[in-house]
Amino acid sequence: MILKSTIDRIMEATDIVEVIGEFVQLKKRGANYVGLSPFANERTPSFTVSPAKGIFKDFSSGKGGSAVTFLMELEKFSYPEALKWLAKKYGIEVEETVETIENKEEENRRESLMIVSAFAAKFFHESLLETDEGKAIGLSYFKERGFTTDTINKFELGYSPDQWEAFTGQAIKEGYQPEFLIDSGLSVKRDNGNLYDRYRGRVIFPIHSFTGRVIAFGGRTLKSDKNVPKYVNSPESEIYHKSNVLYGLYFAKKAIREEDNCYLVEGYADVLSVHQAGIENVVASSGTSLTAEQIRLIGRFTKNITILYDGDAAGIKASLRGLDMILEEGLNVKVVLFPDGHDPDSYVRNVGTNAFKKHIEDNKKDFILYKTDILLKEAGNDPIKKSEVIREIVESIAKIPDSIKASVFIKECSHQLQIDERALLSELNKMKLGKARKDSQQQANRAVTPAEDILADEPVEEIKENASQEKEIVRLLLLYGNKMIDWDGIANTYIGPFMIAELNDVEFEHPASKAFIEIYSKEVENGVLPEEQHFIHYPDKDIVDLVVTLIATKYTLSENWYEMHKILVPDEQVNMKATILGAIFHLKKQKVGKMLQSLRNELQKTEGEADQEILLNQYMRMKKVEKTISDYLGSVILK
Ligand code: GTP
Ligand code: MN
Repeated sequence: MILKSTIDRIMEATDIVEVIGEFVQLKKRGANYVGLSPFANERTPSFTVSPAKGIFKDFSSGKGGSAVTFLMELEKFSYPEALKWLAKKYGIEVEETVETIENKEEENRRESLMIVSAFAAKFFHESLLETDEGKAIGLSYFKERGFTTDTINKFELGYSPDQWEAFTGQAIKEGYQPEFLIDSGLSVKRDNGNLYDRYRGRVIFPIHSFTGRVIAFGGRTLKSDKNVPKYVNSPESEIYHKSNVLYGLYFAKKAIREEDNCYLVEGYADVLSVHQAGIENVVASSGTSLTAEQIRLIGRFTKNITILYDGDAAGIKASLRGLDMILEEGLNVKVVLFPDGHDPDSYVRNVGTNAFKKHIEDNKKDFILYKTDILLKEAGNDPIKKSEVIREIVESIAKIPDSIKASVFIKECSHQLQIDERALLSELNKMKLGKARKDSQQQANRAVTPAEDILADEPVEEIKENASQEKEIVRLLLLYGNKMIDWDGIANTYIGPFMIAELNDVEFEHPASKAFIEIYSKEVENGVLPEEQHFIHYPDKDIVDLVVTLIATKYTLSENWYEMHKILVPDEQVNMKATILGAIFHLKKQKVGKMLQSLRNELQKTEGEADQEILLNQYMRMKKVEKTISDYLGSVILK
């Protein structure tokens, strides 16, 4: 865990406009800054940053929060990752305490693997740049391939000396434990227990997690011996799951978002060359066939994927089916081929950035049209094969969730396949119908089985209903909790503690409000009146969401806030007693109403006279409470 004092220092240093400004173009408007939402497609800016409050609110997507929440939403960081990012930006050293949580050991293991990987990356990088062997063999190889010093440094390329224990020996000497050297795959264990280096004599491509930490390595041989595998990669480990890692994503994500497109290539070298050419929105699946997780990973940043293939026809055909998966995820897929014998790496080095870009523009084809093309060519004039092609294409189209998009493809494919559009449509509908039947069958099966599922649904609705009253309490606590009570009979008390005391018999149901009240009560118990900022920077995202939604309305953040302020807010401030007590008693009345309802239900189910008597008594008592509250609300509070 990061120390509370460190978190405070990070928060103090953080300038939300500066942080968000790294990702969103912001324009000053009045006291605030506005820009285009990075979370939604919009033409008129609704994304608002308030430096005074240290919050942002995106009125398009509804997201809002602090600088930390922003990084968590946009970069998909965890809370500590976001804090560390800020700490790095503002040059604050992060001191962490030992975790006391249950999975501490697991966390520590993961952390140890990351630390040893970072050490290895540094070792290999230095071997490449600073040793005679590295310079003569590794560096000259990279230079020959055209990689610049900038690229080599940015991607932390390295070289593993051609010795059995150069790395392992150094790591052990520096105190790294054999356990982590083995589990990270950096060292391999001999039968006699000794360790040796996995990547001897290979150039090294470190693989970064999408938050930028080294989690694995690819080592390329420099020998042309056919018996030596070209690449040796890290094995799966607790920090490296091949299926959800994309090579280069860390360096590409900003450009992916800006370009709203992601280029997908096959190899490390392709990523490096294309990136170096200034086209930075490029990632590789690194040898494995694309997984659904990888697609979703890209989908967080853009809905458009352009696959850059080398001209090898056999490989292309094999991958065609896998690509349907991208359609299923609702992403748009385009395909670009390169002239025979060229991959993106060799092509971009050959023709340069501009011609490379032009080639992509001139040759990019929508995946389905491209697939149709290839399959048709293969089928030739064979009518049976052709009907299979039709079926396969319609099957792909049926996977597109957006039906308008699907119908556009039907139209275009009907040209290509030279078949009537209506015939294709009816085939599509048949397939969709079949799929819908299967789905509803599955749903029906689900509905019959666990009864709890259905029961569990009901309270959710109720919680929603109560939520607005509960949120109103939270809003009042945030706005007025630290104000003195100024109405008759009560003096020298703050509104916050007063409300908490009044509500101690009320059970909150809406999860974030409930959590908020608990935190607030605890602070009050400790003699502290928590401020807005305390909640804006709270580690729990649900709380931040709730708080920011309540304080960052269009009114409070809009440029004529002052006008609004003068009209709107005094309204409820004129009679604070009515406002505060009204909210408290409305909530209580609602809770009592619910108790009455459940007593009525019980009464209906209860048989024995004695039991009924007890319930009835309870019911009458509750009824009286309800009456008292109603009277109170009606007379004293006016509302
Ligand atoms: P260059 O030949 O240096 O241009 O390499 P490349 O990065 O372009 O690789 P290539 O196109 O040959 O292969 C694409 C990707 O497949 C590589 O980047 C590796 O991730 C992976 N790959 C290739 N060969 C092997 C291998 O022998 N073993 C393993 N595990 N992966 C490989
Ligand atoms: Mn290559």
